[in-house]
Amino acid sequence: MSEPVQTPQTFPTRIFSGIQPSGGLTLGNYLGALKRFVEKQDEGIETIYCLVDMHAITVWQEPEKLRQQTREGAAAFIAAGIDPKRSILFNQSQVSAHVELGWIFNCVARMGWMSRMTQWKDKAGKNAEAQSLGLFAYPSLMAADILVYKATHVPVGEDQKQHLELCRDIAIKFNNDYGVNFFPVVEPVIEGAATRVMSLRDGTRKMSKSDPSDQSRINLTDNADMIAAKIRKAKTDPLPLPDSVEGLKDRPEARNLVSIYAALSGHSVAKVVHDFAGAQFGTFKPALADLAVATLTPITTEMNRLMQDPAEIDRILGEGAERADALARPNLEQVYDILGMIRSRRR
Ligand code: AMP
Ligand code: TRP
Repeated sequence: MSEPVQTPQTFPTRIFSGIQPSGGLTLGNYLGALKRFVEKQDEGIETIYCLVDMHAITVWQEPEKLRQQTREGAAAFIAAGIDPKRSILFNQSQVSAHVELGWIFNCVARMGWMSRMTQWKDKAGKNAEAQSLGLFAYPSLMAADILVYKATHVPVGEDQKQHLELCRDIAIKFNNDYGVNFFPVVEPVIEGAATRVMSLRDGTRKMSKSDPSDQSRINLTDNADMIAAKIRKAKTDPLPLPDSVEGLKDRPEARNLVSIYAALSGHSVAKVVHDFAGAQFGTFKPALADLAVATLTPITTEMNRLMQDPAEIDRILGEGAERADALARPNLEQVYDILGMIRSRRR
């Protein structure tokens, strides 16, 4: 990796990350993101976590569902171990500094940068003309989410790496264009055994809440029977498990299930391979199902309990938004000043 122009070390460590409330959360979100979010909070780092509802509407969302999914997302954060006192937890649309800086970044980022984003290319496919302008500009708003707090580290799954490189490019260009050292050059934090959890039906595709097949994913709202059934039916190959990590090469489904086991148990992939060397899937799958149920059931139960009181969830999000706003607003005011905008209105 090349040396960044300004190193993040000149900025105090602050974590920001977001998840879209565009559907129920999956095991991929849990292992790739949520579980890590909790670890960072528990390490005592300043952590800011956001349900990015403004990103969700880059593809049409049914309003009542969006509201429900935002609350469900907040419940999942809390059930997974995010403490709304120690972390800041809120939904994006309640802190308008995000979209204000997002617009400014639309004027910093270049069309070519956006066109190269693989997520844009995957989502827009051959039908780019019919996509919303917001979907194209999505990564620029994502950069604003992070940089409006001058966050230095961003825990995400592997699929977000390119978006974070773009965030770095935006920060560097802004700093250069205006001759300032205002924004940090963020570091992606992509850690753990399952930074890319794959579909249970196809080991070459990402597990996703937007996959049409519900069998392809484990949802955080699935009950124990559903989790066990999905793992039992997960696609595999006919071979027993290998006795070395290299033996998982070219076996995407086997590698995926072993990685999930490793991430859930907190062990390395090497240890799991060692423990199950030579085992048939008939042995491995029930062990994985037991582990998944034991890990996820307490979270699901707590989520369901929290969802009984939507007003309390809304209250938590509102309070988080106030704390987020207090951090973001002064930074944004400084940006306006750097840009040469007159700010004479009394507030
Ligand atoms: P999204 O659901 O696209 O808003 O993603 C929210 C977070 O979950 C991001 O950090 C993603 O990288 C992460 N994530 C989503 N799907 C997966 C997956 N299948 N494996 C690992 N991380 C994932
Ligand atoms: N693009 C991210 C995803 O779909 C969600 C997101 C929006 C995000 N803003 C962010 C993640 C800022 C990290 C930081 O997964």
